[in-house]
Amino acid sequence: MKILFATPECAPYVKTGGLGDVSAALPATLAALGHDVHLLMPAYQDMKVEGEIGAGVDLPPYAQWPAAQLVPVKLDSGVTLLLLACPQLYQRPGGPYVDAGGRDYDDNAMRFGMLARVAALLGTVHSPLPDWIADVVHANDWPCGLAPLYLAHARVLAPHERTASSVITIHNLAFQGVFPMAAGDVLGVPYYWRGMDGVEFWGQLSMLKAGLQFADAITTVSPSYAREIQTQAHGVGFDGILRARSDRLRGILNGIDTTMWDPAQDPLLPAHFSRGDLKGKAACKAALQARVGLPANKGAMLLAMVSRLTPQKGVDLVLGALPRILASGAQLVILGSGEPGLQQALRDAAQKHPKQVSVTLAFDESLAHLIEAGADAFLMPSRFEPCGLNQMYSQAYGTPPIVAPVGGLLDSVTDASADAARGTGFVMTGCDAAGLDDALTRALRAWREPARWRRIQANGMDRHFGWEDSARQYLAVYEQAALVAAGSPLPATGISPP
Ligand code: ADP
Ligand code: GLC
Repeated sequence: MKILFATPECAPYVKTGGLGDVSAALPATLAALGHDVHLLMPAYQDMKVEGEIGAGVDLPPYAQWPAAQLVPVKLDSGVTLLLLACPQLYQRPGGPYVDAGGRDYDDNAMRFGMLARVAALLGTVHSPLPDWIADVVHANDWPCGLAPLYLAHARVLAPHERTASSVITIHNLAFQGVFPMAAGDVLGVPYYWRGMDGVEFWGQLSMLKAGLQFADAITTVSPSYAREIQTQAHGVGFDGILRARSDRLRGILNGIDTTMWDPAQDPLLPAHFSRGDLKGKAACKAALQARVGLPANKGAMLLAMVSRLTPQKGVDLVLGALPRILASGAQLVILGSGEPGLQQALRDAAQKHPKQVSVTLAFDESLAHLIEAGADAFLMPSRFEPCGLNQMYSQAYGTPPIVAPVGGLLDSVTDASADAARGTGFVMTGCDAAGLDDALTRALRAWREPARWRRIQANGMDRHFGWEDSARQYLAVYEQAALVAAGSPLPATGISPP
């Protein structure tokens, strides 16, 4: 199958969160399964790409849009990276979505409208690549949300021409890509699709809504989140649409890249370890304590968090649990970046309790690996979590996670109190202070019983979180999307509500 995977970020080039990891691993796994995968992303400033760089192709001019080129790069994984080169839109300091000061770029509608439009174009007979038209265009999150709409529009304009089917994956429903409706003019959103049944969201244009309305199939990154977003409590205004389209919505749990996240050979670790031999983990703990300036204390349980600092991640709950953590004699290491208020609160906590709390406000891949390896337990008290990758990394690294009972956390962690034989971590009873306090108490107690703790570690390390199974589920979704696009009724066993 010819698959076009469109994304605003991809590790190791540009990553702000889990979407970057998914964009690296899923296309590579699909390619390893024998499919022809092209990965489209903007060519941001200072991106270092290794591979065989092909000749750039000019994109056909469109309205008043800036000129752009597609530069193909053959990656070792077999994936063809298509860099969308448009210096006017993408060559600037700062992140993929926000400037160096943390503010949204004011031309994001155009920046990601262009990404979505090129993604769609690659699935039509007007594909800018001379010999490649996608069978399916897989759009990710709001920045690619308009791609399914553009493909639907292509079908309206030329019903007899070949057009790819479309899939959108929701990595986070909270980011909705909302712009003034007037942006629809420059983006080429047909006026008849600017109403409630189209892109309209509280009077504005939502790129995510475009994706949800027009995609042939919708996926999200865990079965539990697929259920949750159909409820008012977690639907952030989209639960109605998602319920209406539940026949084409499916939750597929993300995997993890088990070559990059393997404690037995991770090059970012000072010592290695495995399920059968955990000695290296103690060395990683000592190295972590030294690196983040905490006393080298084997007897202190080391709790950790690596996270974007936003209300989603429950950082405030961790701050609220600080007295409990300090009283227990445990240490806490946090690596994160994000909202200034949360950063300040964390900085204050570290300053007040330098022997027990260490905070690093940065985005630091190597420290993230050392934390996963060196910590005793990992904290993820998220208010919502579409999938979450860190709880899977931590299980692979023998670091049982303490997680909220939501989304992908529910689907990937087994509570060790409820299931002593198979437990891999601690699931909070609720996403609140009491829930975290209870889970922390259980974890602290279990850590003091070495045989029990080793069992929990081993259970987590035995889990298989590789991508292959998920990639096969995506292939099934691509096939269903093709049926929907062809106007065939879904088979009875088709995409069913989760
Ligand atoms: P989300 O995508 O919501 O941020 P995930 O758990 O899916 O959450 O993925 C987060 C990814 O980003 C993980 O690979 C995690 O290690 C990484 N990450 C988050 N914050 C940092 C940071 N400050 N430094 C290094 N890596 C980070
Ligand atoms: C989002 C979600 C996270 C998920 C990631 C990759 O950023 O917040 O839960 O793991 O996307 O799908």
